[in-house]
Amino acid sequence: MPKPDLAIIVAMDRHRLIGTHGRLPWHRPADLKLFRHLTEQHTVIMGRKTFESLDAPLVNRHNLVLSRTLSACEGVTVCRNLPEALVTAWRIGEPVFFIGGRTVYQKALDIVETLHVSWIEGDFSGDRYFPDIDFTDWLIMEERDDEGFRYVRYLKK
Ligand SMILES: NC(=O)c1ccc[n+]([C@@H]2O[C@H](COP(=O)([O-])OP(=O)(O)OC[C@H]3O[C@@H](n4cnc5c(N)ncnc54)[C@H](OP(=O)(O)O)[C@@H]3O)[C@@H](O)[C@H]2O)c1
Repeated sequence: MPKPDLAIIVAMDRHRLIGTHGRLPWHRPADLKLFRHLTEQHTVIMGRKTFESLDAPLVNRHNLVLSRTLSACEGVTVCRNLPEALVTAWRIGEPVFFIGGRTVYQKALDIVETLHVSWIEGDFSGDRYFPDIDFTDWLIMEERDDEGFRYVRYLKK
């Protein structure tokens, strides 16, 4: 049976910082554009706090929100645990992107094959970090510079 197409997509700085006070620590329109380009028409799985950081569900995507506390919510499918989210995602169709935050990335790291990382340039402060990761376990498949960040696509060895 072919492996499901599961990926993480994240923007982080060189210290693995991803968030501050429930928001992104930086303003990088080109990275948001890349995020939209890679995830549109696909399924995204996010934690409840990341969902609450958005103005609305992400358009042109199936939005799955992991939460044990959130009630049903228009425009998203609430999933009570990761297996439920995966079954729901596979019913909708692959590929599936885990889009954060930290708690979701922590679980997803064990099961994804692909990492899309935007390495954000600059110095920031914040309170949420991507989990510790050994990049020697990952092959670089693609990399390029963009406005204010470097995009790298990794494949698990
Ligand atoms: N730089 C980036 O690429 C990026 C991407 C996404 C988010 N962020 C940032 O990250 C921060 C938010 O991340 P966070 O780690 O604080 O929160 P989060 O992962 O977005 O949300 C955590 C919540 O998700 C639910 N959850 C997580 N795993 C679950 C599971 N296995 N089963 C059921 N529910 C689960 C729980 O909700 P309940 O408490 O309701 O049960 C948990 O409290 C913000 O600052 C955001 O801007 C950055």
